[in-house]
Amino acid sequence: MEKLTVMLLLASAVGANAASFPFILNELLRIDCGVKGKTTETYNNQTWYPDSFFIDPGKTKQITSSPNVPQVMTTLRYFPNGEAKNCYRLPLTNTKKFIFRAGFYYGNYDGKSQPPVFDLSLGGQPWATVNSSATADVPDVHELIYAPRNDNISVCLMGRKEYGSATPFISSLEATYLDETETANKTVYGMMRNGTAYHLVARLNFGGYDQVIEPWSGWSDTCEEQLNRYWTPQPMPGYTNLTFVPTTCTGTAYENGPPNSVINTAISPTNASQSIYVPVNFPAATPQSAYIVLYFYQDLGPDNVNATRNMDVYVDGVMTKNVKLQKYRSGEVVTLYPVLVQGTANVTISPANGTVLPPLLNGMEVFYATELAEEASSSNGVFKISYSVIVVGVCQLFVILFLGLV
Ligand SMILES: *[C@@H]1O[C@H](CO)[C@@H](O)[C@H](O)[C@H]1NC(C)=O
Ligand SMILES: *[C@@H]1O[C@H](CO)[C@@H](O)[C@H](O)[C@H]1NC(C)=O
Ligand SMILES: *[C@@H]1O[C@H](CO)[C@@H](O)[C@H](O)[C@H]1NC(C)=O
Ligand SMILES: *[C@@H]1O[C@H](CO)[C@@H](O)[C@H](O)[C@H]1NC(C)=O
Ligand SMILES: *[C@@H]1O[C@H](CO)[C@@H](O)[C@H](O)[C@H]1NC(C)=O
Ligand SMILES: *[C@@H]1O[C@H](CO)[C@@H](O)[C@H](O)[C@H]1NC(C)=O
Ligand SMILES: *[C@@H]1O[C@H](CO)[C@@H](O)[C@H](O)[C@H]1NC(C)=O
Ligand SMILES: *[C@@H]1O[C@H](CO)[C@@H](O)[C@H](O)[C@H]1NC(C)=O
Ligand SMILES: *[C@@H]1O[C@H](CO)[C@@H](O)[C@H](O)[C@H]1NC(C)=O
Ligand SMILES: *[C@@H]1O[C@H](CO)[C@@H](O)[C@H](O)[C@H]1NC(C)=O
Repeated sequence: MEKLTVMLLLASAVGANAASFPFILNELLRIDCGVKGKTTETYNNQTWYPDSFFIDPGKTKQITSSPNVPQVMTTLRYFPNGEAKNCYRLPLTNTKKFIFRAGFYYGNYDGKSQPPVFDLSLGGQPWATVNSSATADVPDVHELIYAPRNDNISVCLMGRKEYGSATPFISSLEATYLDETETANKTVYGMMRNGTAYHLVARLNFGGYDQVIEPWSGWSDTCEEQLNRYWTPQPMPGYTNLTFVPTTCTGTAYENGPPNSVINTAISPTNASQSIYVPVNFPAATPQSAYIVLYFYQDLGPDNVNATRNMDVYVDGVMTKNVKLQKYRSGEVVTLYPVLVQGTANVTISPANGTVLPPLLNGMEVFYATELAEEASSSNGVFKISYSVIVVGVCQLFVILFLGLV
């Protein structure tokens, strides 16, 4: 009983602080960890907010060398208290699907040249093991899509004995509300289920853009990325690159709203009777349920009377879907879920009976699913974890006072 009272007292104190949070919470949270004030990323004009609104424990640090990484990765928050659980609380005002993304760039900030390994959790459940040495020179980024059950979800970092109780750190944290207005009369990532987290394995753009297709500030170009996703170029040796002249802003009219830059390039076999073969590697070899999205689009110009492209999609040799593009400008988005995988998946797009044009593939997203039994939130649960680290001393004081009063 004493404990509960103490927790409620603390909760209301912290809640007051969060209430003064000065910007809109429910659509896009871009948090630059360890930075003092609001920042603007120089190369893409994105606005990032300091993390002090969302967490109390930890120390901040600026990376001193001038690394060739985005500005947001040059500051971080670290937690010298080893195996303690240190949490951010994200005050999301909505419990629909969000993209959660966390970025880690070690940059030898402590001068020890010992990039740590530690645990990352979401809503009290395992999210990822961060191994900052596996990606020494580039930020390590973990992303998943999940519909929180509670509107104050926690993101926690914790060292582990097996990993030497190393000091956890974090460079960036984002939560993007996936607008549930429909595209092509379909809910975005509509086959994703509540209570399940979908961990991103790959989000690929095929056929010729070398740069990462990413969201730009203000989302002013409505033909481009609207959902704060990053699309990685995937060169495919041995295939032809197709580039369609973007005559219309069609991408975002398709399911999941792919950006124009993704759907206007594609790969295709050099020979109409050949297939496209894309091997996918998953981080674990254990059996998993995969969520695969394939983007098909062509824009051949109105003079092209032979626009028929008939394709069969196979996963691990099993025919799963037929895709037919028949008009000179047409597209289709195919979602395959659940697909049982064990470490790898082989996606093959083959020419189907009656096709005139060879198969093509414009983009692909791959996730694996985990059940996420989120802890009950209410202010209690989350705050107890979030602030336990700093308030241990204070708690004892409160308990003493409380007992004294009784
Ligand atoms: C950067 O974004 C701000 C608003 O977020 C806008 O006013 C400004 O024009 C943008 N600058 C550029 C160069 O796009
Ligand atoms: C972290 O990554 C490094 C480099 O890839 C690897 O040698 C090490 O075993 C990994 N540590 C853990 C705990 O997975
Ligand atoms: C969406 O549904 C409406 C009404 O059923 C229909 O008129 C429209 O063509 C559909 N749009 C697409 C892109 O399928
Ligand atoms: C998931 O939960 C949201 C909000 O609670 C609800 O609107 C939506 O219909 C649910 N979706 C499914 C597939 O159950
Ligand atoms: C296709 O584009 C990629 C760049 O994304 C390039 O590496 C590759 O060489 C191109 N392929 C051909 C056949 O030109
Ligand atoms: C296309 O591939 C088929 C089967 O591999 C082969 O028989 C045919 O000669 C190829 N055509 C060309 C033009 O390379
Ligand atoms: C269209 O395709 C058919 C079958 O491949 C072919 O016979 C015909 O010549 C093509 N027409 C044009 C205009 O390319
Ligand atoms: C995928 O293809 C590779 C190479 O052909 C093969 O070694 C692997 O067993 C295949 N994976 C599955 C699940 O079929
Ligand atoms: C392919 O099409 C031809 C003619 O339309 C038909 O005779 C044949 O049975 C079809 N093959 C398959 C596998 O569907
Ligand atoms: C979430 O946090 C806000 C702001 O601190 C608070 O007003 C709200 O009651 C909390 N919601 C829950 C379910 O705890």
